[in-house]
Amino acid sequence: MMKILNISTECYPAAKAGGLGDVVGALPIYLNKLDCEASVIIPKYSTDWMVSKKWKKKSQFELESGNNTYQITIFILNDTSFPYDLYAVDIPTLFDRKSIYLDENGKGYKDEAERNVVFQLSVLTWLCRLKYKFDVLHCHDHMSGLIPFLIDHSQVFSRLKKTPTLFTIHNGQYQGIFNWSKSELLPAYEPSARGLLEWDGKINSLACAIKCSWMVSTVSPSYMKELKENFGSLTSLIRHESSKCIGILNGIDTSVWNPKTDSLLPITFKTEISRFKIDNKKELSSKLNIGSNKVWISFIGRLAYEKGADLLAPAIDQLLTKKREIIFVLLGSGDENVAIALKQLEIKYPKNISVTIAYNEALSHQIYAASDFLMMPSRFEPCGLNQMYAMRYGTIPIVNHTGGLIDTVPDIDFDGNGFDYTPNNVEKLCQVIIRAVSFTKNKEDMEKLRQKIVALDFSWEKSAQEYKNIYQNLIILSNHAS
Ligand code: GLC
Repeated sequence: MMKILNISTECYPAAKAGGLGDVVGALPIYLNKLDCEASVIIPKYSTDWMVSKKWKKKSQFELESGNNTYQITIFILNDTSFPYDLYAVDIPTLFDRKSIYLDENGKGYKDEAERNVVFQLSVLTWLCRLKYKFDVLHCHDHMSGLIPFLIDHSQVFSRLKKTPTLFTIHNGQYQGIFNWSKSELLPAYEPSARGLLEWDGKINSLACAIKCSWMVSTVSPSYMKELKENFGSLTSLIRHESSKCIGILNGIDTSVWNPKTDSLLPITFKTEISRFKIDNKKELSSKLNIGSNKVWISFIGRLAYEKGADLLAPAIDQLLTKKREIIFVLLGSGDENVAIALKQLEIKYPKNISVTIAYNEALSHQIYAASDFLMMPSRFEPCGLNQMYAMRYGTIPIVNHTGGLIDTVPDIDFDGNGFDYTPNNVEKLCQVIIRAVSFTKNKEDMEKLRQKIVALDFSWEKSAQEYKNIYQNLIILSNHAS
């Protein structure tokens, strides 16, 4: 049975900041159903979940990086009901924090380079001390992007040479770029390999991973296509490496996202989708103090430029000055200016908008269940999971034509699953919303579309098989290499 180790800084339910956590949390479950032995290693944070669990010590060692010495402990989750082996790297001072990436002011931690490097060195040091070997190391995003380089070019980790690596880009916007002064954090490596760490005069962890990993994947085929067309200064690099690049659409964990059994919902799905909607809308409308007799259009996610969150307030304002048959239900946190603009709209139109500035897993499930539409005006969306969650709950997506949204939400005019628009600006967003609202007038079409989207299969089975095929090919390659 092939042994796969996922190396990540997020894994739901232990630690999640976004979609990366969902994917790393679910993929091993589905790989293991396909007779793999997949496990995950993440840093040991002080999240409620991680603190509340029992952990068993696996290994302990000292690690030097820069001028510091760290006491590292590798733990394994001591819970037989958990579906796979979850390892956690305890690095006091760097990771024993509640929040995964952001400080109390919502800014990225200043010691990001130290955190990422020491985490990666700890994982590699532990792997070298193990009696057994993992067949493939699956690295996720730039935070584990130096691993393929270190395996190949640092003598310290020579025991791991020929271990195949797959690197998955969940979000190419974040690249782990550091000044060369940070190179002192790394152990000695072959001087001739220095160029592999670099892009545009700096250390670029993502570029380094694209160069050094055996295979590179992104989380949807369209996003991979987009990167090859325009990935800023990395376009030439990804084109150059294109023979080892592939796009695999994420799945969703259909056992967590199941409207029939979802314990976070006041009313679960029985037989009729329209009943499910009406009942959940009623429940949530009293909780949020809004009406239940209008069209609900929601937004769930980070209030970030990348997600097009800045387009929401001007579009909603424009629409509500004329059209009062819509209620907007918004849930998210992030950019403060966006949050303020939305809160002001809530005061201006108290009957037509509900804004919750928070990260709230339970409320998000309830909003998916109650809404008619979910809008995703994302500027970039490597895959996007929310549109798939929405469809499982009979909620029709309204999406900008980008990345994984292209692959999952073809437009209704092309016999698709929702409403798709482009270019991504306030005017077009208003137009597509008007188009969606007028669609609701035809009850029969609405019912047909809802029934179609709840029945779509976005489960992990198919994608997990694609990952397994890649692992298998990599193992064959490594056998030839040795
Ligand atoms: C990132 C991307 C998102 C993707 C997720 C999981 O959060 O922004 O589009 O779905 O990773 O791969």
